[in-house]
Amino acid sequence: MRISVVGLGYLGAVHAASMASLGHDVVGVDVDAAKVESLRLGKSPFYEPGFDDLLAELQDSGRLTVSTDLASVAGCDVHFVCVGTPQSAGSLAADLRYVDTAFTEVVGHLAPGDVVVGKSTVPVGTAARLAEVVEAGAPGATLVWNPEFLREGHAVDDTLHPDRIVYGVPRGPAGERAVQVLDAVYAAPLADGTPRIVADYPTAELVKVAANSFLATKISFINAMAELCEVAGGDVTQLADAIGHDARIGRQFLNAGLGFGGGCLPKDIRAFMARADELGAGEAVAFLGEVDRINNRRRERMVELAAEVLGGAVRGARVALLGAAFKPDSDDVRDSPALDVAVRLSDAGADVIVADPQAVEPARSRAPQLTYTRDVDEALAGAELVLLLTEWREYRELDPVAVGEVVARRQVLDGRNALDRAAWEAAGWTYRSLGRA
Ligand code: UDX
Repeated sequence: MRISVVGLGYLGAVHAASMASLGHDVVGVDVDAAKVESLRLGKSPFYEPGFDDLLAELQDSGRLTVSTDLASVAGCDVHFVCVGTPQSAGSLAADLRYVDTAFTEVVGHLAPGDVVVGKSTVPVGTAARLAEVVEAGAPGATLVWNPEFLREGHAVDDTLHPDRIVYGVPRGPAGERAVQVLDAVYAAPLADGTPRIVADYPTAELVKVAANSFLATKISFINAMAELCEVAGGDVTQLADAIGHDARIGRQFLNAGLGFGGGCLPKDIRAFMARADELGAGEAVAFLGEVDRINNRRRERMVELAAEVLGGAVRGARVALLGAAFKPDSDDVRDSPALDVAVRLSDAGADVIVADPQAVEPARSRAPQLTYTRDVDEALAGAELVLLLTEWREYRELDPVAVGEVVARRQVLDGRNALDRAAWEAAGWTYRSLGRA
């Protein structure tokens, strides 16, 4: 099929390349010329495991082209809109300006029978409103809402082998035809047995925010238990293992620590609260405010713990911070708990050095006042306190004996409950973590 993808961020770029790898002819469009140039050369503009390999495989196929010119979507049969919906400045709501602009522009290039597919995470009700824009500007074209559930760090695999595929379609023949078109797009994952749910627009939009709200709630639940463990003298990692054995609960997403960040969970739960309020149902998701507060308290607690371990005197202390990305295997620092803790400690006067294998440049552009290195040994040299903030494998696997030789004091705070506590203590370290006495 001939497919266009508008918006080449983490979602759109991976979607475009994945669709090309499934055998479709894809044109990707973005306003960011540097991003487009990078993709044109077969280089990922961001760090995502496996993505460079996928781009390399596609280089000679001719099935993926990229452009800054939106007019190049003309002639495609299916148009995916994958632009961002960040949090609005000064409110909890999503900022829909990129989605609105993308739709307004794409509509001008549609032909009857084309299918436009919204993938961005949007407030419920947006698809119905955009369907009117499509109907008015491109009679005979149909809008589908097809939320995306990919995780950064697993984006390629999640796109090619999704847990489920959801279509939000209008009632009637146009909707039925659109289902057939999307079934042809996703023929390969559907043939693998991927469950497919065909719903109306509001359900499809809500599936996405409900899923992210559930995940955020699960993380904040275990972090609330961590707060209890801290005051009552328990161990939240054992608690998570024990409750996780109950298949109804499950162990995944019960890793207590610094909590969630990134470009999705934090802004999605906030936008959900804002939209529910507009619909007069704010009470139904008021608990998400608590989920957000629990999450933010973990960052504060981490800073308090650092001060405690340093005997109250953060000012002037040399602190090595391991991790800037919001999670391992990503260079994304949007709403990163790690970077937030780094900035707070630096604001409190600590002499911080932040190490990250991939996220140094993105972090530097967000928080230029901090000192960064890719080299973990450089960060550790002379440190009076080491904080593990993002559980990159190379940090989880540090040898506590060797690290003990280069630091000034053997004091470590494990913000992700990711280190082998017994091994670090055996090597003479004072080990503290979130949620473990
Ligand atoms: C999330 C959803 O998982 C994905 O389905 C959706 O499409 C986009 O949002 P992502 O933001 O890439 O994906 O990251 P995810 O793996 O969900 O992690 C989110 C945050 O939660 C990270 O900061 C991570 O460190 C944190 N987390 C995750 C925990 O603190 N504990 C856990 O047990 C799991």
